[in-house]
Amino acid sequence: KHIDVKEIISSKEFIGQEITICGWVRTSRNSKSVAFVEVNDGTSLKNVQVVVEKGESDYKEPRVGMALKVTGTVVEGRNNTVEINAVPEGITVLGDAPTDYPLQKKGHTLEFLRTIPHLRGRTNTFNAVWRVRSVLAAAIHEYFQTHNYVYVNTPLITGSDCEGAGEMFQVTTIGYSNDYKNEEDYYTNDFFGRKAGLSVSGQLEGEMAATAMGKIYTFGPSFRAENSNTPKHLAEFWHVEPEVAFAELNDVIEIAEDMLKHVIRTLLDKCPDEVAFFDAHFEKGLRARLEELISHDFGRVTYTEAIELLKNSGENFVYPVEWGCDLQTEHERYLSEKVFKKAVFVTDYPKEIKSFYMKQNPDGKTVAAVDLLVPGVGEIIGGSEREADYDKLIAAMNERNMNLDLYSDYLDLRKFGTVPHGGFGLGFERLIMYTTGMANIRDVILFPRTVGSIR
Ligand code: 4AD
Ligand code: MG
Repeated sequence: KHIDVKEIISSKEFIGQEITICGWVRTSRNSKSVAFVEVNDGTSLKNVQVVVEKGESDYKEPRVGMALKVTGTVVEGRNNTVEINAVPEGITVLGDAPTDYPLQKKGHTLEFLRTIPHLRGRTNTFNAVWRVRSVLAAAIHEYFQTHNYVYVNTPLITGSDCEGAGEMFQVTTIGYSNDYKNEEDYYTNDFFGRKAGLSVSGQLEGEMAATAMGKIYTFGPSFRAENSNTPKHLAEFWHVEPEVAFAELNDVIEIAEDMLKHVIRTLLDKCPDEVAFFDAHFEKGLRARLEELISHDFGRVTYTEAIELLKNSGENFVYPVEWGCDLQTEHERYLSEKVFKKAVFVTDYPKEIKSFYMKQNPDGKTVAAVDLLVPGVGEIIGGSEREADYDKLIAAMNERNMNLDLYSDYLDLRKFGTVPHGGFGLGFERLIMYTTGMANIRDVILFPRTVGSIR
C-alpha cells in the first residue's frame, strides 16, 4: 500500500520508517554514487526527492514523465524537508515515458498546455487550479448546506429558454443505423417529437423548488451557444444558482456577498500553497487582495449612477456609453478596477436589457436586477428579485412575444401562494479566475468547451 506524497512531506511522523510512494518523475539528476529523482504524485504541489544509493548495481536513470513506485526510508532532508532514501531494487517502473513526452522540464506557455488538455494537469499550475476548483466547490456546498438550503438538481434538457437570449443549443437525436449514408441522416432534429434544448440556467425550475423548500441551490452545468471567442465565455460552464423565497433584492445581494466571503476565506485557509503559487507566478499580491476583499464591504452602485461614472470617466471606450446600453466588459472592468478597486454590485438595470422574469421597479423603466462586477474579469454574478405579480409577469412576457404555453407551470407559481423571491447565478469558472488570477477561462476547467474545442 502506498502513501500520498502530501502526507509524507507535511509531517515528520514518517521519518525513519520504510514506506512506498507512487508518482511521476519530474526531474532526475545523476552523479557518481547517488541519483536524485523528484517524484510528484499529484496530491501536492511539492515533489518528494528520492535519493538513490546506486552502489554497484546497474541503475537506469528514469526519464521525465515515467510512473514509478518507490519503496525506501523516510529521512530528514535539507531545509527542514523530508526525503526518501532508496536503493535501485526499491524502484519499480510502472509506466515508461519516451523522450517525446511533451512535459519535459522547462517552462511551457499556457497556450501550449491548452493543446494537451489530457496532460496539463501534471504541471504545478494546473495541479493548483484543479485543487482550488475542488476546494471552492466544497466550500460553496458547505455554505449553503449550513444555511438551510436544499441542494436540487434541475434538468439539463429543457423546453424553455430561461434567459431568452437565443443562446440555447438544440437537442437532436443522433442515429446509429448502418443505413445512414450521409451525416445529415444521423440527425432527426427533435426530442421525441418536441423541440428541446440544453439548459442555459436552472433558475426557472429553481424558483419552483424554492417556493416549496424555501431556500434551494443548484450547482451544475449550463450551456450557452454564444459564438464568442473571449477569455471569459464557455459553451459549457458550471453554474451555482441559489434561489430564496421571501427575499427581496437586498437579501439576494447580502447572500451573494456572505457566500463569496465564506468561500474565499475557506480557500485562504485550505490552500495556502496554491494561493502562494498563484501569487508568485500569476498575480503578485493575490493573497493580500483576497484578504482585503473578505474584510471589507463590497461596493454598491445603481446602473444609472454607473452610467454617469462611465460618461464622466474621460475614457475612450470602444462601446459608447448611454443610459440604456448593456455594460460591456470594458465598462465592467473600469468600474471595478478604476472606480471601486474591488468587487461592486450594480443594481436596477433598464428592463429592456434584462430578462423577462425580473421584478419591475416602480419607476417603470428599471428592474430589480443585480450583477457583481470584479477586477480582472467583469461580471461573475447575475441575479435579481423575481416578478411575483401574475399580471405584471404576463405583460413582460407579452412585450417579448414569448409563448406563454411553454411557461404555464412557471406562471402557476404566481397564481398559487406567490411570494417575493429572488436569487442569482454565479459562474463557477469566473469565480476561479477571480480567486487565482488566471486570465483565461480555458485554463480553469479540465476540458474547455468553446468554439472549435471538440477534438
Ligand atoms: O447573468 P446570467 O446569464 O444569469 C442567469 O442565467 C440567471 N438565470 C441566474 C439566476 O438569477 N439564477 O448568468 C449568470 C452567471 C454570469 O454572471 C456568469 O458568471 C456566468 O453565469 N456565465 C458564464 N460563464 C462562463 N461562460 C459563459 N458563456 C457564461 N454565461 C454566463
Ligand atoms: Mg448576466
